[in-house]
Amino acid sequence: MQLTLTRPDDWHLHLRDDTALNAVVGHTAKTFARAVVMPNLTPPVINTELASQYRDRILQAAKAYPGFDPLMTLYLTEQLTPEEIARAGASGFIKACKLYPAGATTNSDAGVKDIQKIYPTLEAMQRANLVLCVHGEVVDPKVDIFDREAVFIDQILTPLVREFPELRVVLEHITTEQAATFITDSPETIGATVTPQHLMYNRNDMLVGGIKPHFYCLPIIKRDNHRQALVNLAMSGHPRLFLGTDSAPHARTAKESACGCAGMFSAHAAIELYAEVFEQHGALDKLEAFASFHGPDFYGLPRNADTITLEKSPWTVPETYGFGDDVLVPMKAGAELQWRVRD
Ligand code: DOR
Ligand code: ZN
Repeated sequence: MQLTLTRPDDWHLHLRDDTALNAVVGHTAKTFARAVVMPNLTPPVINTELASQYRDRILQAAKAYPGFDPLMTLYLTEQLTPEEIARAGASGFIKACKLYPAGATTNSDAGVKDIQKIYPTLEAMQRANLVLCVHGEVVDPKVDIFDREAVFIDQILTPLVREFPELRVVLEHITTEQAATFITDSPETIGATVTPQHLMYNRNDMLVGGIKPHFYCLPIIKRDNHRQALVNLAMSGHPRLFLGTDSAPHARTAKESACGCAGMFSAHAAIELYAEVFEQHGALDKLEAFASFHGPDFYGLPRNADTITLEKSPWTVPETYGFGDDVLVPMKAGAELQWRVRD
């Protein structure tokens, strides 16, 4: 059995930098035409100049895949000025800015503490037609980690969307029933990405029978009713839900630690993992639009012109992949996957 799709794009990806970048970029570039590259480096990508230099390093690291086009993002800080937003918009290669609430996740310390402070910046983004990508979790220590997305939607996102009716907003890596409902009820300006892990796993997979650090990512994997809501939304073919892996590589030693880093690496088999979920739910016919149409349509970019072909041909995921001097443990390490991309 085989399945030919318009070449997909990954609308949420962490490529890191230096040796880590060199180690991971090919996993994405071999299959995907474009990827929205997250700016949470140390130091973060906070202006057009840094984004341009980072883009050059990515293109250099991906030179074996000359068609690969990294779509850059700026990291929103309270210091980012409307003038810098205008520059980013004019650059052509920056497509979005990423909102990290300060302290919400990996390298988010420079993020936003008071959302009101960036309202002039959001106004400028609306004018420049840049997309706002949102890590949608509050950081209030009183809010339970499993509730942080739902509270963010109520307290921060709903008022923000009301204030900026023309700003395109992507709620990234959605994990809850509340997020699924928010997307269903939202206007055309609001989209969302969903990761393979949030479609496949619930919190039991992470916690029952021993704590499994490789399942730890942010937003954290939730109860099964939430996973089911995400699956239902994806399988319904919702036109503003699209593929965004949030593939987030960390060295094995940083994951298997007393204070393990958040992030799952899925770039080695991204489209294959999604194919597995869509097939399980009898919705393989919806995969192409999710992976290859909804994202560019939302971002106002052309759909890709060429195709990839997936074939049903089981293979075993390696236990590790190289990651500079270290290794990383990929999603489904050692397990069998059904689909592979034909060379
Ligand atoms: O699990 C995550 N890892 N969530 C994020 O928001 C950031 C990412 C990372 O950069 O490692
Ligand atoms: Zn991410």
